[in-house]
Amino acid sequence: MSPVVVLVGAPGSGKSTIAALLAERLKATHRDTDADIEARAGKPISEIFVDEGEPHFRELERAAIVEALKDDGEVLSLGGGAILDPATRADLAGHTVVFLDVSLGEASKRVGLSVARPLLLGNVRTQLRNLMEARRPLYTEVAKLTVLTDSKTPDEIADEILEHL
Ligand code: S3P
Repeated sequence: MSPVVVLVGAPGSGKSTIAALLAERLKATHRDTDADIEARAGKPISEIFVDEGEPHFRELERAAIVEALKDDGEVLSLGGGAILDPATRADLAGHTVVFLDVSLGEASKRVGLSVARPLLLGNVRTQLRNLMEARRPLYTEVAKLTVLTDSKTPDEIADEILEHL
């Protein structure tokens, strides 16, 4: 009737890594809605954004989430913007949702935004900061548990989540 756990968080929060680890520990399947969308569309998300635009991507994302929430026993990771849709936030209310929280500095490192070229990367970093600030209340709204991931290993993060399941 529902996934064991649903991971949400900003790009670079470690959703896919932690979901894969949790699935291994729980002997469950890891499902990622971004991967489902790419498989169905037959192209990477970056191309969907360029060819069809973000609103179309959000429709595909919404459909993928509705499908994924029907399946039993999976560890589910969602794209960073999944919680923007109020219908998705409402659907997540009945599920065990974990918000993987991360600082801007750590997220920037994990998505490959080096601080070595601040002039080139300043805009991207500012965008990531704005996006994280705007979404924070939405992540906390849907989350049953928030785990700060900075300075923790994937194993430590997985342990912390498993203690709460
Ligand atoms: C998005 C995050 C991406 C992906 C898409 C949009 C976002 O997933 O769903 O590019 O709006 O934050 P990750 O959070 O796994 O990077």
